[in-house]
Amino acid sequence: MINADTRICCLIGDPVEHSLSPLVHNAGYQALGINYAYVSFRVSDIRQAVEGLRGLDIRGASVTIPHKTSAMKYLDRLDPLAERIGAVNTIVNDDGVLTGYNTDGDGAIKALEEVTTLEGKKAVLVGAGGAALAIAFGLKARGVKLVVLNRTGAKARELAQKVGAEGYGGLKLAEIASADILINATPVGMPPETDRSIIPGELLHNRLTVFDIVYNPRETRLLAEARERGRAVVYGDRMFLYQAAKQFELFTGLKGPLKAMESALAQALEGGGNVTNLDRR
Ligand code: ATR
Repeated sequence: MINADTRICCLIGDPVEHSLSPLVHNAGYQALGINYAYVSFRVSDIRQAVEGLRGLDIRGASVTIPHKTSAMKYLDRLDPLAERIGAVNTIVNDDGVLTGYNTDGDGAIKALEEVTTLEGKKAVLVGAGGAALAIAFGLKARGVKLVVLNRTGAKARELAQKVGAEGYGGLKLAEIASADILINATPVGMPPETDRSIIPGELLHNRLTVFDIVYNPRETRLLAEARERGRAVVYGDRMFLYQAAKQFELFTGLKGPLKAMESALAQALEGGGNVTNLDRR
């Protein structure tokens, strides 16, 4: 029950209507019986919104598109990883002191580790945006040899240089032949490009684990082609779940109750396509 003691957490972004974060976080609070509530705010002025977190003593915020970078300059502290990534997806308010974190890479790594080991493996990461960068740091920290491929070569090389990897433009797909892990970190596969995959199915060789960060639809064309060929697949909703669980822990100091959060997410995704991938992006 919401009362005078309820701690509030929130999502700030634009758009936010289709986000699954409120559902997943509130399911976690309910499962643990803690007096927290999570709401969404559609925010255009990020400076005012961040000041509002302080002014209203809101305990924590998830940050989504388009504020992940612009929010940083209004915070008091940055977790070193978020600083290196140059984007925050989480803000924690400790008595008016606001600290920014980034849980995207952590979520991606946990999702991958459900299916494969990482140390010493070679991964090909397709895409060079903010999500790709967070994942790239996570992979390098696990001792993965990383190759970044991106439509725009300059961005591939820039990202690769930041993390200590190789980067190529023009989607040098031949790199996949010697890879153990393939990750799509582009929006290709989500609406309106649900019938597209950047990677031709015949390149999905039998040693490859295939991970798509898109979670709407749950099974993208890339993952469907990988599964039909019998490859190990990692679904984007696992990354969403784990990044949310990490946020939950930062907000409450308690381990996110994965079972409850997972079943809320599964129900929402089964309920149809009225969700977007924006929440994590
Ligand atoms: P995010 O923060 O979610 O990573 P982003 O910063 O907009 O989003 O990055 C999107 C990535 O997907 C970029 O690497 C982009 O490639 P460009 O750098 O060439 O723009 C890639 N991307 C988006 N649409 C694509 C498409 N249709 N084909 C190939 N790559 C695409």
